[in-house]
Amino acid sequence: MLATIVLFSCNDRRHPGRIYMPDMTYSRAYEANAPNDLAAKGINYLPFPVPGTIRRGDLFPYTLSNDSNGYKLAIDIKDPLPPLDSVGLNEAHRLFNINCAICHGPNLDAQGPLAGKVGGIANLKMPQYVKEPEGQMFHVVTYGKNNMGSYASQLDRRQRWMVIQFIKSEQAKISAPKDSVAAGSGTTKDSTMAKK
Ligand code: HEC
Repeated sequence: MLATIVLFSCNDRRHPGRIYMPDMTYSRAYEANAPNDLAAKGINYLPFPVPGTIRRGDLFPYTLSNDSNGYKLAIDIKDPLPPLDSVGLNEAHRLFNINCAICHGPNLDAQGPLAGKVGGIANLKMPQYVKEPEGQMFHVVTYGKNNMGSYASQLDRRQRWMVIQFIKSEQAKISAPKDSVAAGSGTTKDSTMAKK
């Protein structure tokens, strides 16, 4: 008889019977950033960062809008990072290879594996991109442009600026030998202006 009771006591899965330690059976975990009903229950718990605040050490949010006006205004946005050292540049190079080289190519010449498959990939070695202001590059990497998607979710603000520093440093290498301007004088912008 005991055996029968034991056997039949577990067969109803919908009504598992008395739970002695509900705290341990059912998790009270709340998703960190998901909407929840805690405030309605009078529990003082703030799942989201306080509006208008940023994480310690984080860069300020990019506030220009994703439209042609924002693209225009981005010309004046300056890279907030100090110049990268060789370790930083190596990391930026790594991020470029992972995120950008598939289209723009490891040599920035638009000859990545997707060349010909994605239309209109910018050849970052062309003068128009060599002299493109860094803020405008940041705008495009943040929001995307035509066939290029946004990289805001793959790269945080700091990483996006790092990648742009990498591109600028590569561009400086290719534009330097071509220019007759004495080495080290001025930026690429100055030298193109000198040519005109
Ligand atoms: C899916 C392919 C693809 C990937 C990946 C990609 N791009 Fe692009 N990129 C493009 C195309 C296409 C354009 C040309 C957009 C246009 O002007 O129509 C472009 C344009 C650009 C420009 C010129 C922006 C301008 O103002 O015209 C920059 C700078 C740039 N990309 C940087 C990057 C960086 C940095 C990454 C990696 C974080 C990246 N791209 C990843 C396809 C890509």
